[in-house]
Amino acid sequence: MTYSTLLLETDADGIAVVTVNRPDKLNALNAQVFEDFTALLEVLRTDASIRAIIITGAGPKAFVAGADISELAEVDGHDGQRLSARGQAVFRALEHLRKPVIAAVNGFALGGGCELAMACHLRLAAPSAKFGQPEVKLGLIPGYGGTVRLPRLVGRGRALELLLTARVIDAEEALRIGLVERIVPAESLLEEARTVARTILTMGPRAVALCIATVDQALDLDLDAALAAEAAAFGEACASDDKREGTQAFLEKRPPAFTGH
Ligand code: COA
Repeated sequence: MTYSTLLLETDADGIAVVTVNRPDKLNALNAQVFEDFTALLEVLRTDASIRAIIITGAGPKAFVAGADISELAEVDGHDGQRLSARGQAVFRALEHLRKPVIAAVNGFALGGGCELAMACHLRLAAPSAKFGQPEVKLGLIPGYGGTVRLPRLVGRGRALELLLTARVIDAEEALRIGLVERIVPAESLLEEARTVARTILTMGPRAVALCIATVDQALDLDLDAALAAEAAAFGEACASDDKREGTQAFLEKRPPAFTGH
């Protein structure tokens, strides 16, 4: 399957690299990108040979420089709500994948680009990466989860400071406030993202999926309910072949051969 605004490249380890590919528009997210993403997500979700996903942007300048402003300029209140809900659903589906999703942020991650990176499970950034939610400059607010995920990642005060001032921050500051996990030289960004993905893929696949799901759930629940959800997921892990194999392999001093069951 081919997509007009996305590139999909899969390697022998089952790592898919998805590249948002509108470099002449700094990979801005237009309706076609969301249409392509919707179709691609179904492939990422259902194709068992794809085990981890890396998301990046085409060209040397941008990860994604935001929603496409030329489209936003034409949108009224009713369409705006629909547009927001559609983008949110796509990013939520990405976040809901029970396979690790890593953002390799290679440049501007503004507006929808920052929101896309935040919907990924992990974020690696090149030193040149720039992050921000500058929507207020346009008389807008983030519509793809920025007001929701940014405070969860960096805290309410820092989120509001970025949202209200439209300040764009560099990779160092993003690292300091917890918006990215690591800064990696630009030339090795993708390779490093692959290395992180490969590391995760050596772990018990059931456990990896359960970790992602349990953390996701925990953020929406009160402490006691979140702990109950963890106990249930722990029970599920304990019932798995992977746990039997993982613990047995440790005791027999051999590497585990996980099956994902
Ligand atoms: N939507 C639509 N087009 C965009 C875009 C966006 N979010 N971001 C960049 N582009 C386009 C520019 O219009 C330009 O197109 P053109 O060559 O046809 O004129 C092209 O991408 C290159 O961008 P340009 O502004 O010339 O690059 P720059 O290096 O001077 O500036 C940015 C880079 C990121 C600072 C600047 O493009 C920018 O501020 N973009 C908008 C960021 C934003 O507000 N995002 C949130 C949107 S809700």
